[in-house]
Amino acid sequence: MDKKTIAFILNGAKTEIAVESNLLLVDMLRDRLGLTGTKIGCGEGDCGACTVLVDGKTVNSCLILARQVEGHEVLTVEGLGTYDKLHPLQAAFIDEGAVQCGFCTPGMLLSAKSLLDENSQPTRQQIAQHISGNLCRCTGYAKIINAIEKVAKSHER
Ligand code: FES
Ligand code: FES
Repeated sequence: MDKKTIAFILNGAKTEIAVESNLLLVDMLRDRLGLTGTKIGCGEGDCGACTVLVDGKTVNSCLILARQVEGHEVLTVEGLGTYDKLHPLQAAFIDEGAVQCGFCTPGMLLSAKSLLDENSQPTRQQIAQHISGNLCRCTGYAKIINAIEKVAKSHER
């Protein structure tokens, strides 16, 4: 299949890569670029494990083509924080016990970031609503909501 080179910003860095017309964004991130923090759960838009931000908005990366991010900005969990300097949301998820198996966590973090970027003081109900597309089979959600609320209250993001 013919490849086309696309250019976009990935986690703050200009990135160019040749991709086939049918390559999914999630597969480009994981298999071609080695960014395996983005997970594949259902592969059909139901679980949110593959959530990334495109121009600051949440996107299920299993549902869009790699070529669709040409000229756009993509943020994955690898661009959120580092081992030495965690993003406040990452630190809060750890502190509040909001991570168990961790499979949903990258997508949850990016959904939470997009919420707090839009609404710095969400209610618990607004938090729950915003992460409703991100399924977690482990935590029961309360601790995830606690973690997001903690960051909102601390004004650090
Ligand atoms: S893997 Fe994309 S929504 Fe489930
Ligand atoms: S921590 Fe296991 S699915 Fe959320």
